[in-house]
Amino acid sequence: MLSINNLETSYGLIKALKGVSLDAAEGEVTCILGPNGAGKTTLMFTLSGIIKPDAGSIDFFGTSLTGLAAPKVLREGLALVPENRLVFPLMSVRENLLAGAYTRNRSDKDEVEADIEKMFARFPVLKERQEQNAGTLSGGEQQMLALARALMSRPKMLLLDEPSVGLAPVIVNEVFAIIKQLKEDGLSIVLVEQNVVKALEVADHFYLLDQGRVTFAGTPGEMENDDVIKRAYLGGG
Ligand SMILES: Nc1ncnc2c1ncn2[C@@H]1O[C@H](COP(=O)(O)OP(=O)(O)OP(=O)(O)O)[C@@H](O)[C@H]1O
Ligand SMILES: [Mg+2]
Repeated sequence: MLSINNLETSYGLIKALKGVSLDAAEGEVTCILGPNGAGKTTLMFTLSGIIKPDAGSIDFFGTSLTGLAAPKVLREGLALVPENRLVFPLMSVRENLLAGAYTRNRSDKDEVEADIEKMFARFPVLKERQEQNAGTLSGGEQQMLALARALMSRPKMLLLDEPSVGLAPVIVNEVFAIIKQLKEDGLSIVLVEQNVVKALEVADHFYLLDQGRVTFAGTPGEMENDDVIKRAYLGGG
């Protein structure tokens, strides 16, 4: 499991994470909610080694990831699907998938090829488009590719940063169907999401991040009964 303790991250003088502590259990979907600018992406970047924290610790299945560079974090089994997909636009779909396997052993070539076929089975649209440049895919197709690319590293845990943002409702449902399947397959997931109604379908645990701090932690039931969250996210209260 992933255990984060008192994590602090800043951009120059701006402190984006002001002592964040949270746990994400194995086999579960842990959802992080929070308004724009709360620090959600900063948390994802810090966990995946893209930015280094000023203080605090990150433990992952008994190994410390604190301060490790991104490729090492990925090798430990923690893979990020970044906000706004961020596929490599001038590389083909197949090349993007191969890039996702960059930390794997070169001698695994046959296994990597077999995994690409598995991705094509899970995401049929990527098979049809395998030679097409990723930048020419639709937003939904790019999201599928970003997910598949992260899976190519064979992660233990996936960090998903707002996978549904900017997508049509039908495509959002497809993305969530994939998240459900991955969970059923036993993958652990940290999901940053503003679509609370959809998140409630998959999440086992919720955290609310606000201005760099965790302001709520609880089960879906506890979250649905929290007045502040009800008002801000569920349109009730
Ligand atoms: N590269 C940067 N340089 C300076 N400040 C930054 C940088 N990136 C983010 N910030 C600031 O850090 C804070 C947290 O930003 P972050 O992107 O983590 O928020 P977020 O919760 O992911 O928001 P959103 O929902 O809009 O994606 C914000 O105040 C933001 O302005
Ligand atoms: Mg963000």
